[in-house]
Amino acid sequence: MALQVIILAAGKGKRMLSDTPKVLHLLGGTPLLERVINTANSLNPSAVHVVYGSHGECVRQSLDHLSAHWVEQSEQLGTGHAVQQVIPFCKDDDQVLILYGDVPLISPETLQHLLESTSHSGLGLVVAERDNPAGLGRIIRDELGSIIQIVEHRDATEQQRAIREINSGIMTASAIHLKKWLAQVNNDNQQKEYYLTDIVACAVAEGSLVGGVLAQSVEEIQGVNDRSELALLERAYQRGCARKLMLSGVTVADPDRLDVRSETIEVGQDTMLDINVVLEGRIRIGKGCYVGPQVLLRDVEIKDGAFIFANSVLEGAVLGEGCRVGPFARLRPGTTLGKSAKVGNFVEVKKTSLGEGSKASHLTYLGDASIGKNVNIGAGTITCNYDGVNKWETLIEDDVFIGSNTALIAPISIGEGATIAAGSTITKAAPAYQLTVARVKAKSISEWQRPSKKKP
Ligand code: UD1
Ligand code: CA
Repeated sequence: MALQVIILAAGKGKRMLSDTPKVLHLLGGTPLLERVINTANSLNPSAVHVVYGSHGECVRQSLDHLSAHWVEQSEQLGTGHAVQQVIPFCKDDDQVLILYGDVPLISPETLQHLLESTSHSGLGLVVAERDNPAGLGRIIRDELGSIIQIVEHRDATEQQRAIREINSGIMTASAIHLKKWLAQVNNDNQQKEYYLTDIVACAVAEGSLVGGVLAQSVEEIQGVNDRSELALLERAYQRGCARKLMLSGVTVADPDRLDVRSETIEVGQDTMLDINVVLEGRIRIGKGCYVGPQVLLRDVEIKDGAFIFANSVLEGAVLGEGCRVGPFARLRPGTTLGKSAKVGNFVEVKKTSLGEGSKASHLTYLGDASIGKNVNIGAGTITCNYDGVNKWETLIEDDVFIGSNTALIAPISIGEGATIAAGSTITKAAPAYQLTVARVKAKSISEWQRPSKKKP
């Protein structure tokens, strides 16, 4: 018996009022539909079929890298009609699981539970209790408590609308039964749609067992219809991420002010994430680190005991043990900082390695440079790496001291232990262990008169 997952994603998502299809909007940095496809694939199905609409070509294009079989539903005639587009691709004894592209947080655990508790001849639903069930399909049970029908909100009577048990939409049945039941569904309802939910009554009429599995959380079956619902779900998701981090020994200053937009994140024990930290891409942070307020980290690896101070932006950087970065530092892709290196305020670093114990404490640009150990880069130092067309490299060997306000015109090299006098413009290689001064000598003019404003 093989598992076939069908994800319904053909709706236009009108209430988002967006040029971007609803299922491509992001939650925790990942498109809604991508989350559902990934969850589906985690169940090891023989295929994941995504039903997309006539406006969905860009959905397909932007998620084409994922493992899925794309099936077009050219007219949106209802959820039952959508499932029918895929049924021909399923073998009779396959088990079919139906998910929704706009219900992004459904958990693999609940789905496993649903699959395990549904017999091959039965129909299994994921249901929930809601204080405010408005708009959702209601679960109708008989006197014995068995599910006998789902009634859509629009088609429900006042009495049925008082029922708080709702249909999440997520369900499972074998393909042979789905085929048979779907063939009996008509569009005789308020919306003139073929409702998938009508198969419940078909199953019951045949004597098949209809079971309901309770969702573990409200969030996991929450659909996204507009941007307000998206924001609420985003916060719920973020709180979950913060909780996971805290339970693994990370201090989170305020779980409501942390944003994780990453699926690959590792943070070591006793690391503290201060308020408004944003984590994107691949994140690896060691133990005992501190990430200050308003820090953006994207694709970074930070070793144990490093401190990132407030308002710093780090992207594509690797930081050695005990580094100090910021406040107000910007590390761009290709930055590598050795152990205990220091990058201070208003320093920008790009494609540059700074060796162990080296410092660039203030107001500096370091681009395309390879810098050794125990180097001191004075305030206002600039690697002039760009001639308008080409990028050139700067090599600075160990134990160099670069005085403040130095321009290093690349390509250039500074030998080991060299000292560059403040205010120098270096255009040719500076020899090791010597002082190199390249600045205009001061001269003083004694008879000079400062201009003064003439009184009228
Ligand atoms: C559906 C359920 C309802 C349940 C609710 C949970 C039906 C008839 N009703 O209602 O019982 O409580 O979900 O959120 O199933 N879609 C297609 N093709 C179509 C129509 C819809 O792919 O022709 C997709 C949509 O993109 C969406 C999903 O199916 O992802 C649900 O459709 P929607 O119209 O939003 O159904 P609801 O009215 O919310
Ligand atoms: Ca919906």
